[in-house]
Amino acid sequence: MVHLPHLLCLLGVVAAGYEPTWKSLDTRPLPAWYDGAKIGIFLHWGVFSVPSFGSEWFWQLWQGANKSQYVDFMKKNYRPDFTYQDFAPQFTAEFFNPDEWSWIFGSSGARYVVLTSKHHEGFTNWPSRYSWNWNAMDVGPKRDLLGDLAKAIRTNTPEIHFGLYHSMYEWFNPLYLQDKDNNFQTNNFVREKTIPELYELVMKYQPEVIWSDGDWEIEDWYWNSTKFLAWLFNDSPVKDTVVVNDRWGRGIPCHHGSFYTCQDRYNPGVLQPHKWENCMTLDRGSWGYRRNAPLFDYLTIHELITTLAQTISCGGNLLVNAGPTHDGRIPPIMEERLRQLGSWLDINGDAVYDSTPWVHQNDTVTPGVWFTKKADTVYAMVLSWPKGDKLTLGTVQPTPETHITMLGYKNNAINKNSLKMKRVKSGIQVVFPPMSDVKSQWAWVLAMSGVTPTVRTSPAPTVMSWITAP
Ligand SMILES: *[C@@H]1O[C@H](CO)[C@@H](O)[C@H](O)[C@H]1NC(C)=O
Ligand SMILES: *[C@@H]1O[C@H](CO)[C@@H](O)[C@H](O)[C@H]1NC(C)=O
Ligand SMILES: *[C@@H]1O[C@H](CO)[C@@H](O)[C@H](O)[C@H]1NC(C)=O
Repeated sequence: MVHLPHLLCLLGVVAAGYEPTWKSLDTRPLPAWYDGAKIGIFLHWGVFSVPSFGSEWFWQLWQGANKSQYVDFMKKNYRPDFTYQDFAPQFTAEFFNPDEWSWIFGSSGARYVVLTSKHHEGFTNWPSRYSWNWNAMDVGPKRDLLGDLAKAIRTNTPEIHFGLYHSMYEWFNPLYLQDKDNNFQTNNFVREKTIPELYELVMKYQPEVIWSDGDWEIEDWYWNSTKFLAWLFNDSPVKDTVVVNDRWGRGIPCHHGSFYTCQDRYNPGVLQPHKWENCMTLDRGSWGYRRNAPLFDYLTIHELITTLAQTISCGGNLLVNAGPTHDGRIPPIMEERLRQLGSWLDINGDAVYDSTPWVHQNDTVTPGVWFTKKADTVYAMVLSWPKGDKLTLGTVQPTPETHITMLGYKNNAINKNSLKMKRVKSGIQVVFPPMSDVKSQWAWVLAMSGVTPTVRTSPAPTVMSWITAP
């Protein structure tokens, strides 16, 4: 006879399945919500939002690399003994209204949010026990920015998963610099700062995305990454739903993690064998808010939708970055882009959420047409209205059952919104409806059932091999 405690103990061993090795961690199925979500919002917010000049790397570029642009900016605008720390009290966040933020994010159609808990400057946006006097409760906002945003999102927009960015290294932290001077043969910084912070973040805020960064100067053995991840996946309060990126030590990006980010703005244009994410910025030049960004540096809505179409067709998620201001606002131009994206998704979301890549990613005849698939429907995201209202596709072959509609187009007349189409030599030609009868702006989605893919002449794409769990 087996004693109950003994049995529970055995079950416990089975449940606590992941070893602190990549080989073991890589066997964890990707929680399904993440692949279906497709779109997240990235927020870079911190003390760097005060100078809001150049980029969120302000401190490093000013006093680490001594770049003249930054040195001159400080000389011209601040008293000679002004320190980076002096910016912190000006991180006032007096207009920060987390409810308003959550409504903007809700309107954007995003399904997750990733906020910087701490960037490379080391300032924590939550009252961390491990960042005394260099955190948002002790100086600057005098509030728990993370906790307040997490609560607003979970209350107002429960469809949005709450996630956190966290930088492993800190440019000027003396503990880190000491470890580095010791050729990383000591790891006091990791033991006393990085890892305690990560545990604190998970226990306090239960993030469903941990977006790690600042890992690249040294391998994962220094960071104790696999040990933390084994705990995260086995025993943490978010063990069933959390996803993590791939920045857990030099050589790890693009090789390990729930999803790969590889490089910033990674957008390979071809199907990837592992779940990945394109993290990119509305302001081309910076992640943090830049007062000196000219209009031209902001992506247009067409550029944003183009990036979205390319990304999801190739199996990626899109993480769209906005930089809030020091006083707690989402700048109107960023808010507009996010709301435009949402208005497009209101009409065209069927092609996006819970879709999977199709056999072909983009068309072979008409450039700027990207595909996704859901059940028996193939979606073509068409980025420019075709000349003469006729779109030719080389990747799609009609069958007797072919039925094509355009999302957001209702024809009150005959044959149920079907678009006219015919077989042509290269594949299929679809006649677009009058533009004035169409709701969608910027890009148009065809929903096609009963079509077959043209047999590829180029090498077959890599099969998406990730497994998803419910
Ligand atoms: C930048 O200036 C600081 C202070 O003068 C100095 O310690 C540091 O070595 C300089 N960095 C570079 C990359 O020259
Ligand atoms: C963390 O990694 C170091 C090597 O840098 C190792 O000596 C130490 O035992 C590890 N700590 C834990 C808790 O795994
Ligand atoms: C399809 O996408 C690939 C990769 O981005 C690109 O090289 C190719 O030119 C595209 N095809 C067309 C017809 O635009």
